[in-house]
Amino acid sequence: MPREIISVPTVATGMVPDRLPTGIPSIDQLLGGGLETDSLTEIYGEGGSGKTLFCLHVAHRVAREHRWAFYIDTEGVSVDRFRAIAGEDLERILKRFLLSTPTSLEEQGRAIATACALAREGQRPVGLIVVDSGTAYYRLSLSGADEDEARQTLTLAVANLIATSLAAHIPVLFTNQVWRSPKEGTLEPLGGSFLNHAAKTILRFERCPGDRRRVVLVKHRALPEGSAEFRITSNGLE
Ligand code: GTP
Ligand code: MG
Repeated sequence: MPREIISVPTVATGMVPDRLPTGIPSIDQLLGGGLETDSLTEIYGEGGSGKTLFCLHVAHRVAREHRWAFYIDTEGVSVDRFRAIAGEDLERILKRFLLSTPTSLEEQGRAIATACALAREGQRPVGLIVVDSGTAYYRLSLSGADEDEARQTLTLAVANLIATSLAAHIPVLFTNQVWRSPKEGTLEPLGGSFLNHAAKTILRFERCPGDRRRVVLVKHRALPEGSAEFRITSNGLE
């Protein structure tokens, strides 16, 4: 078992759902030890709320611990920020950081299929799959002639990620964009009820004044709702 995984036995089933600590104490406490394996964690929030930095932070920890992090990036991830997070370990970490940069929803689906196949085949110890942003290309197809097809592509990709998280016993991080509800004025995640059901943990990231950010635990299959704070620093998150 990888060094950083904490086992949390359940009474009823005898299954052993595990947690991957994020290394950010406030968030680990909120999540009962860290990100759950065997399921998909959705992170949604406005631009600049820290979704990408959080994903990079977790991915770098996985790669640092001699496992592979498969990172599907649709936004143009900042190499400078990753360098700042990784610090002196950069070269070592990059050897286990698999970056894919699809340029359409179809390519994103293929990248996810590749990541899932790699994680399931088990030849390399894949410890995490990240899709950031999971809905940027999907959003472009909304309200167009391709909307149904786009919804199906996204649904299949998410189903594949969930099945893989179970088969390979790893966490999956899937970031989601938001839209403002004209009636309520609130920021809502894309993907509707399908993603809401598919994700077993849902986190909302919120901007606070300065470098502070809030994480709200919106949904968890074993924990009550709650919130935590973290700070963005020049070296990453703390
Ligand atoms: P979108 O992808 O646009 O939806 O945003 P995101 O939620 O992924 O945000 P991201 O993780 O990219 O966070 C960017 C935020 O980090 C911005 O608010 C930046 O101002 C902030 N940031 C970036 N670098 C630094 C830094 O060195 N110090 C501090 N304090 N903040 C930084
Ligand atoms: Mg981002």
